[in-house]
Amino acid sequence: MIDKQNIYILAIESSCDDTSAAVMHNDKMLSNVVATQKIHEAYGGVVPELASRAHQQNIVPVVHQALAKANIDKKLVSAIAFTRGPGLLGSLLVGTSFAKSLSLGLNIPLIEVNHMQAHILAHFIKENDKKAPSFPFLALTISGGHTQIVLVNDFFDMEILGETLDDAVGEAFDKSAKILGLPYPGGPFVDKYAAKGNPAAFPFPKPKVSGLNFSFSGLKTSILYFVQKETRKNPNFIKQNLNDICASIQSTIINILMDKLKKASEQTGIKEIAIGGGVSANSGIREALKDSEAKYGWNTYIPKFEYCTDNAAMIGIVGYLKYIDGDFSDERIAAKARYVI
Ligand code: KG4
Ligand code: ZN
Repeated sequence: MIDKQNIYILAIESSCDDTSAAVMHNDKMLSNVVATQKIHEAYGGVVPELASRAHQQNIVPVVHQALAKANIDKKLVSAIAFTRGPGLLGSLLVGTSFAKSLSLGLNIPLIEVNHMQAHILAHFIKENDKKAPSFPFLALTISGGHTQIVLVNDFFDMEILGETLDDAVGEAFDKSAKILGLPYPGGPFVDKYAAKGNPAAFPFPKPKVSGLNFSFSGLKTSILYFVQKETRKNPNFIKQNLNDICASIQSTIINILMDKLKKASEQTGIKEIAIGGGVSANSGIREALKDSEAKYGWNTYIPKFEYCTDNAAMIGIVGYLKYIDGDFSDERIAAKARYVI
């Protein structure tokens, strides 16, 4: 007989370059440990083979820490939830194999989780006075690996309305930052310098993409050509104009996102708007979203930063919701690099 009052989920996330383990007690987070792999900084981007090896080194200590921080014995764990995909296959394999072995060893159920669903369902991790969005709502997931607008009818009834055709929005930030000579990942640096700059200083063209899809690769190219041209005239151009360049890039990206979000809201008539993913940390997008409450009558939802970037607590909340439904996986389940919501 399942005790539905006291469900403890041990969750594992290893889809990209963060090794994470979390323990949930029902919909509350008891611990959420994230080991971010610093090794990729030197390469200016994630190196899949190195990510996979680092996951192998990190996974045992990270799981131990998550259990210790939650202060529970592993015998209390009701089920193991893990990220099945989408992500880098070599990275996913580490978490998947570990989760399977643990569920076999402890003789408890295994629950597979779609990483993109988890970014959205992170809004349902219980926080003191924080309200979760009501169904149906629109979710904009923006990170280094994803850019999607999703119609969320229910916990496990989601439909992708639009997504990027090329680079993810986080990549647009990071690649622009690289052109400017900023460290990787450059998104937070662009955000920092943008705060002191004029967003109208250098107008960059917005891509013409039909429907609710996005494209960011053209923007990156136009920034590159612009910077090359100006640097030929003035070798100190970047240094002298860094704040204005960053503010202009950031405002172009935010306008692209907000235009599509507004279009999605008009098309569906939905004014419950949630965002998630690492780029939700950007102060410009947060401000634009807050402004839209008065401007368009939206209710907006931004998760705590800890639940925006890749983390296992978001895998844990999905594990909890699936546990309640009795939606378990068998041990033959395989990782999936491409895994649609
Ligand atoms: O969700 P996340 O931690 O990992 C992925 O799944 O990709 O997102 C990381 C991305 C990076 O591209 C990083 O530059 C971007 O989020 N990011 C930001 C900010 N903080 C993180 N982009 C713009 N402004 C920020 N403040
Ligand atoms: Zn992610």
